[in-house]
Amino acid sequence: MINIGIVGCGYVSDLYAKNSRSYSNLRIKGAFDLNPLNRERFCQYHGVTPHQTMESLLEDQSIQLILNLTNPRSHYAVSKSCLDAGKHVYTEKPVDIDISQAKNLVNYANTKGLRIGCAPCNLLGNTVQTVWKAVNEGQIGKVRLIYANYDDGMIAPQMRPWEWHNSFGVPWPAKDEFEVGCTYEHAAYFLSCLNAIFGPARCVTSFSSCQIPDKGIVVESMAPDFSVGCIEYDDGVVARVTCGLVAPQDKSLLIVGDDGYLFVRYLRNDTEPVFLRRNTIPVNVKRVENMVNRIRSKLKNFEQFIPWPIDEFQIYERLPFALPQSIVQASVDKRVDFMLGPNEMANAILEGRNHRLSGDFGIHLLEQIEALQHPERFNYKRKIETTFLPIEPLP
Ligand SMILES: NC(=O)c1ccc[n+]([C@@H]2O[C@H](COP(=O)([O-])OP(=O)(O)OC[C@H]3O[C@@H](n4cnc5c(N)ncnc54)[C@H](O)[C@@H]3O)[C@@H](O)[C@H]2O)c1
Repeated sequence: MINIGIVGCGYVSDLYAKNSRSYSNLRIKGAFDLNPLNRERFCQYHGVTPHQTMESLLEDQSIQLILNLTNPRSHYAVSKSCLDAGKHVYTEKPVDIDISQAKNLVNYANTKGLRIGCAPCNLLGNTVQTVWKAVNEGQIGKVRLIYANYDDGMIAPQMRPWEWHNSFGVPWPAKDEFEVGCTYEHAAYFLSCLNAIFGPARCVTSFSSCQIPDKGIVVESMAPDFSVGCIEYDDGVVARVTCGLVAPQDKSLLIVGDDGYLFVRYLRNDTEPVFLRRNTIPVNVKRVENMVNRIRSKLKNFEQFIPWPIDEFQIYERLPFALPQSIVQASVDKRVDFMLGPNEMANAILEGRNHRLSGDFGIHLLEQIEALQHPERFNYKRKIETTFLPIEPLP
């Protein structure tokens, strides 16, 4: 059993607490938030002991691991205090906004013999594990090109996201999200998966801009709401990656190899199916496709009356999941398990092995993310200097 303390009882803490109910080996023992209203609401709703001060939480000797669920710009100070108090830290993304501070944190944890790990943890989910297995098995041959997207749709101003609330009434932190930027908030959902599968990135060439400067609320400065980049990995693998709050929602992943391609429609779900399309298709499958596509081409004569695009019809293979299937649900519309990361770290502590989402892994992500969001700092092309030890897929 690992006892956990939470610092930061805001919007996302609700989802962690809900997912934690599926883990008998993890117990949320106490929580602290600078905002007393958020702290009390969280603790009351989820039956957790509230602490009036951070010191009081950190003095609880039975707590081994702290989840740092504060806003990105508080990550350094909070993680540093937790390490000072001798606690392992699993922090929400990114490790910190500033790469040199993030490096300090990871070095400090190492010198103290403590763990620091960083979200996101979707690479430990069934979808990404299945993609990873298929790539390793050579199902699509040598990988050449990847397209990964995290377009969230035009959530602001029209959808007024500052009015979204979690189960205990804390609003989605729109101001903070818009100031930090969707690339710092979301790029790691695909970068972490690609880095785990293809190894450390070597170079990022990028562009970013702010397409909707007025999102309906006052901010100190509006971060880019669109970024696009090409990431070069070893062995000639290139990934084109996009993040945004403008284009319609698209969180898909396409990995193209010499023998076919893998496709995930919605990478943010941990149990999203993985589809494989091989270059060589059995004759009977091709026949069915041709038949449907003949009807489709007839329909094209009436295209002017049909209010949706008529796409080419293709049959895919749906790959069996790599791990036993589990039902995870952080919220009604989120098939996500936020506790996969803390659980993996807790098991690593108990088993005395390295945890997968290491501090070095988090720093490497941060270096790529900074290049994507701030290309002007690097003349639009950044050679990536940090690295991390290879990560193994789950057994
Ligand atoms: N909102 C989401 O949907 C979502 C999803 C996944 C991950 N995340 C990540 O989770 C983290 C938190 O996001 P959120 O949406 O919950 O933000 P939030 O603003 O709703 O909650 C953050 C909480 O941290 C508290 N806090 C800030 N600094 C603190 C400090 N020094 N000490 C104690 N408490 C402090 C705030 O008072 C607030 O209650 C971020 O890193 C974000 O990237 C958010």
